[in-house]
Amino acid sequence: MYDRIIRHATIVRPEGQIRADIGIEDGKISAIGELDGQATRAETNASGLVLLPGFVDSHVHFRCPGHPAKEDWFSGSKAAAAGGVTSVCDMPNTSPPTVSRKDWLQKEALAAQQSIVDYGIWAGAAAGNAEEISELIRERLACGVKVFMGATTGPLLVDDNTLAEHFQLTPGVMGVHAEDETVLSHFRDLGRGQSTPDHSVLRPPEAAVKAVRRLIELCETWPREVHICHLSTAAELELLRAQKKQLPITVEVCTHHLWLSTQNALGNWMKCNPPIRDEADRLAMWEALEGEIDTLASDHAPHTKEEKERGYWDAPSGIPGVETTLPLMLRGVWEGRLSLERLVALGAERPAQIFALQGKGRIDVGYDADMVLVEPQAMRTLQARDLQTRVGWSPFAGWKMASAPSEVLVRGRTVAREGKIVADAGSGRKIPLGPLTKAD
Ligand code: DOR
Ligand code: ZN
Ligand code: ZN
Repeated sequence: MYDRIIRHATIVRPEGQIRADIGIEDGKISAIGELDGQATRAETNASGLVLLPGFVDSHVHFRCPGHPAKEDWFSGSKAAAAGGVTSVCDMPNTSPPTVSRKDWLQKEALAAQQSIVDYGIWAGAAAGNAEEISELIRERLACGVKVFMGATTGPLLVDDNTLAEHFQLTPGVMGVHAEDETVLSHFRDLGRGQSTPDHSVLRPPEAAVKAVRRLIELCETWPREVHICHLSTAAELELLRAQKKQLPITVEVCTHHLWLSTQNALGNWMKCNPPIRDEADRLAMWEALEGEIDTLASDHAPHTKEEKERGYWDAPSGIPGVETTLPLMLRGVWEGRLSLERLVALGAERPAQIFALQGKGRIDVGYDADMVLVEPQAMRTLQARDLQTRVGWSPFAGWKMASAPSEVLVRGRTVAREGKIVADAGSGRKIPLGPLTKAD
């Protein structure tokens, strides 16, 4: 007896689409095929709808502990669910930062109480914590170690010695915010006194390029899994094009670097690190979606309206985005700029593989029944009042994007319908992590 059968859906996987029924039992997909006449407690006719795997956003900042007025695990996970994201990995630049076992456990307790989607939790690299973080990763608690090579929101900047130490000692995936701090501080000093400097001039492409070059160098000496976050320039792509194939480096692009450029001139509303770049860089990111890029993420980084309304120097960097990533990328699909197959590879299957998120990222027998039903071609104009994020704004308000998913399921339970949340706080759980690769 199935708990539910979803009939006649068009199922999307990286290798192609099939039309079939899906049987769900105990939160997992237990059958795919022709399930006519099979006993089930509930059923849905999904004829005419497309069924995607729940999206896996390996890069969100849910702000808790520390700043619940910006976001907490309930509001952040509601935003995720409304946008078809059923798994998130939360970054360590919270308050306190997640740099010890105690910090990690404290954050996990909050997530367990509040989250309505499943989650992983990053640990942050800091001077002297490589051993403690290594244990958290070996025990398959932390989903990876995050390294900030350049200063951004929070205190988690490391110097080259600490970077090298984690490079050699810490197992698993190292996620990197790759902007070189010596370049950043040089331009910061030059920019002082200007009231509205151009953010991408103050944090220029060369800061990102220098950091990526250093990562390649380190990886040649000590090969290890490195996931470069939020690639933003054609120059970084060029460097990686030459080197990436020989090295265990994967790369992420974020939605705002695909949809915004300096031409949008949204001031602090689009101030983020690495900055929004020019049109040529933006278009290079779109092209690379079919090639060098491995994963798509939101870098959901909410700050309050009041903070963003301050002058340039006092406004924090970051853009909320977990609930607009899939709708914007689906718009790209409906407009013929990307295939659905490639989108599910970038947004679900690859991130789940890279971070060994067990049961996640794919519609197949034995996987968790994390699924998103969407109506092809359906579009809307985003209204800020419809957002779930606590900060209540998006640089994409007033933009055309795909309608909210018809339904979103986490382990077989419906968490959102047409953008409305129907799940209770605490129904999400920590994603079990698979074994480390042999090299670790
Ligand atoms: O713009 C950003 N905001 N970049 C980061 O690296 C951090 C993030 C945040 O946490 O606000
Ligand atoms: Zn970052
Ligand atoms: Zn980030």
